[in-house]
Amino acid sequence: MTCFGDSNDPFFSFSGSYRIGFGTFGILSPSPFLSAIEQGYRNFDMASAYGNHNILGSVFKESGIERKFLFLASKVSSQNAEGYSISHFKEMLFSSTRRILTSLQTSYLDLLYLHGPDLLLPECFDGLSEMQKMGMIKRIGLCNITQTQLMRILDLGFSIDAIQIETNPFFWDRELIDFCHRKGLFVFGYRPLGAAKTGILENSVILEISRKYGCSPGSIVLGWLVAKKIVPLPKSENKARQRQNFHALHLELDRKDLKKIDALNTVSKPSCHWEKYINPSLRSISREWLKE
Ligand SMILES: NC(=O)c1ccc[n+]([C@@H]2O[C@H](COP(=O)([O-])OP(=O)(O)OC[C@H]3O[C@@H](n4cnc5c(N)ncnc54)[C@H](OP(=O)(O)O)[C@@H]3O)[C@@H](O)[C@H]2O)c1
Repeated sequence: MTCFGDSNDPFFSFSGSYRIGFGTFGILSPSPFLSAIEQGYRNFDMASAYGNHNILGSVFKESGIERKFLFLASKVSSQNAEGYSISHFKEMLFSSTRRILTSLQTSYLDLLYLHGPDLLLPECFDGLSEMQKMGMIKRIGLCNITQTQLMRILDLGFSIDAIQIETNPFFWDRELIDFCHRKGLFVFGYRPLGAAKTGILENSVILEISRKYGCSPGSIVLGWLVAKKIVPLPKSENKARQRQNFHALHLELDRKDLKKIDALNTVSKPSCHWEKYINPSLRSISREWLKE
């Protein structure tokens, strides 16, 4: 496991551009990816469920960027498990991951997540650690997980490197984030801008701070995440907004401003929406395993 600040890990020495990722959900044409690469993004958040691995694979090839300078993360979800019985979940993970690698035209992923907690089963962890040993994946991550579930998995001796949860000023789980950082787990924040529809970018505190620093509300929100050592994964198809978002890497928000943004949280303990990510056919098994 590598920690933030680990000098052996160029991606997460916490001084490089990898501190901001690029969200790829809903983008089905190459041009936004090409412009993201032009802006400097090298860390891409993908998923089987997004249906765009093939496009991304061609874009990475066309960009000419050496594989070792890209941080490629993807996810396998219970949708990939359709038709498999639980005793064959290891096989399912292998074939889903091989498909991802083929589409991306690469031999390994820097990070592979289980997209929903319904796959948090011993059968899956066995498969993940085998793929890690074989070099198909470098790190293992879990999405949409609660602290109780994560603690149980770590107590069972499974090795996890990262989590990905919804994190933005209106919705963040301080306890879970602190817990992960204490344990040396990376935290990736999805929907960092509240999908631009929750009012974060129009919030008066964010607007006041953005005027003070002379940058966009989006940069302020992302700068807040970066300051918390959370890797935000903003998605934008617009070149100017991609640039604004990436600019957050260079922002240094002062402590008072960070605290003002901290205070915007509207939930004390987000549930991480994990129930939403449970496949009905796996409900009975995963419920037992994931009891809160
Ligand atoms: N693990 C999971 O279960 C999970 C769940 C949800 C999302 N994710 C990941 O997280 C990524 C981001 O989440 P998201 O796409 O839902 O939400 P988001 O990144 O918070 O917001 C994206 C929306 O904000 C707009 N936007 C981007 N930059 C902006 C700026 N500077 N100012 C104003 N508007 C801006 C975008 O429009 P334009 O494109 O027009 O700029 C888009 O409508 C996804 O792409 C995906 O990779 C993971």
